[in-house]
Amino acid sequence: MDTEDTSKLPTHIAIIMDGNGRWAQARGQERREGHRAGVEALRRIVKDSSDLGVHHLTVFSFSTENWGRPRNEVSFLMSLLERYIESDLADLHAEGVRVRVIGRRDGLSDKICRLIDRAESLTANNNRLFLQIAFNYGGREELADAAARLARRAANGTLDPESINGDVLSAELLTAGMPNPDLIIRTSGESRLSNFMLWQGAYSELYFTDVLWPDFTREHMQAAIAHYAERERRFGLISASGDAD
Ligand code: IPE
Ligand code: IPE
Ligand code: MG
Repeated sequence: MDTEDTSKLPTHIAIIMDGNGRWAQARGQERREGHRAGVEALRRIVKDSSDLGVHHLTVFSFSTENWGRPRNEVSFLMSLLERYIESDLADLHAEGVRVRVIGRRDGLSDKICRLIDRAESLTANNNRLFLQIAFNYGGREELADAAARLARRAANGTLDPESINGDVLSAELLTAGMPNPDLIIRTSGESRLSNFMLWQGAYSELYFTDVLWPDFTREHMQAAIAHYAERERRFGLISASGDAD
């Protein structure tokens, strides 16, 4: 569970899809046009990921902090997820994509929750690409929720507190069963995690690019993968090519 893949092609790529607002602003358009274009970029990248042999793709599309944006932007982002599932679910299923939405359900409408359930159950047995959409997701909230569940089990006597270790905690996270991201890409020139995959990203390679998310293409993804392939992941050990003395 906490083992990381060491081959040159990242098994799991996670993307912080940032820069939609600035993309629109640069064109003199409303921010929502940037979000719309962002969905187009997502559609392309899902296809490209399958083609490139990536098995797991996680995309950050709405953070727990994003609730603080103006109400009309928040409701537009909610409606975009709804429309994305409604319009793309059949195609995703046909292409062998397994869909999972990770994040808190509170605050989401019944309609979105039903769509998420439908997407997850329809695609549960697909295995070409595992697409994880982080929506209403926050890494700290995920960890706090997991800690609270473990504490409840310890308090009611169904879990020995001494048995809690990294694997037990990993299995309690929303990403349970998923390998950790090998590579985390963030677009739009910001070099921060913004509460994304705080536990899972402990040993991820980080790749920051100035490209705004709606402009992100297969070529940019390939550049990120090529960058990843050049890294030596040491996981706290010494270099594999280092001299032993
Ligand atoms: C990313 O683009 C999408 C979300 C965070 C929902 P932004 O909306 O953050 O775009 P910028 O960062 O303002 O350009
Ligand atoms: C991170 O982008 C969240 C998503 C991409 C969904 P933000 O635009 O919300 O992050 P900050 O505010 O720049 O840190
Ligand atoms: Mg942003």
